[in-house]
Amino acid sequence: MQNQYGIPAMGFGTYGRNGEAGVEAMLVALETGYRHLDTAQDYGTEAQVGEAVRRSGLPRSEVFVTTKIKTSNFGKGALVPSLRESCETLGLEQLDLTLIHWPSPNNEVPLPVYIEQLGEAHALGLTRLVGVSNFTIAMLKEAQAILGDVPIANNQFELNPLLQNKRLANYCKDAGISVTCYLPIARGILGEVPEIAEIAARHGATPEQVALAFEFTKGYIAIPTSGKAERIRSNFKATRLTLSDEDIRTIESVDRAQRVIDPDWGPEWD
Ligand SMILES: NC(=O)c1ccc[n+]([C@@H]2O[C@H](COP(=O)([O-])OP(=O)(O)OC[C@H]3O[C@@H](n4cnc5c(N)ncnc54)[C@H](OP(=O)(O)O)[C@@H]3O)[C@@H](O)[C@H]2O)c1
Repeated sequence: MQNQYGIPAMGFGTYGRNGEAGVEAMLVALETGYRHLDTAQDYGTEAQVGEAVRRSGLPRSEVFVTTKIKTSNFGKGALVPSLRESCETLGLEQLDLTLIHWPSPNNEVPLPVYIEQLGEAHALGLTRLVGVSNFTIAMLKEAQAILGDVPIANNQFELNPLLQNKRLANYCKDAGISVTCYLPIARGILGEVPEIAEIAARHGATPEQVALAFEFTKGYIAIPTSGKAERIRSNFKATRLTLSDEDIRTIESVDRAQRVIDPDWGPEWD
């Protein structure tokens, strides 16, 4: 399952997967069949991602690697060197996808300053694709106008059955921007939603598998994480779960617009 940019729909999030335990979790993910690892300059897991890719024995071309530029690297002349450093830490020549992690807090660095540098990083070949994270519709429009012919390939934001972000997701779909869901399993609380528990029981699946299958049916990418091998494997089985149209309609109806990640300095959400 890949989208128009060749991004595997099932990814493995690496927030919190630090140290040797983190490498081992990533290796379980790669052995299980995940072919997409999501890291960030801010997570302290770039070295672990590089190590896991090497230890897996998989060809580099088989594993899709994303990193994200932290907001303190947005200043003029800072972004490209920071991405070179990420490549070095990862031990990779090129990222598959580089995202702007968050819009600059309180617009401290004006958007054109860091988006132009993202375009520069792409032109230099440091990353095959570029994208953003936690961007609103207005910011996507502004960024795309600056990038010109280089498409915004992806917007990564919080999305799961309890926060379906329909307006933003529909805009992305129409604009050809793929969507990556972070917190795709709402950190394991979906079993408390009766409608999801019922669908899961009927399919002999877990609530997390139901959420992920819902996201894949919508054409989204999802990047769940876990430090536990059993859960890493169980979550992956969502790629083989087919939900009915009625199941999808039921899940659409449980949206509570319940956002978890909402810093004071974040954007005015759509
Ligand atoms: N761009 C951004 O601003 C941004 C923000 C947040 C996250 N992210 C990315 O998105 C990834 C995922 O987000 P997230 O880690 O916050 O949320 P998540 O994937 O929705 O939830 C992960 C949590 O759920 C638990 N879990 C995993 N599988 C489970 C299962 N089958 N049953 C019950 N609980 C389960 C895990 O605990 P155990 O480890 O104990 O299993 C972990 O605490 C991150 O790793 C990161 O790569 C990006």
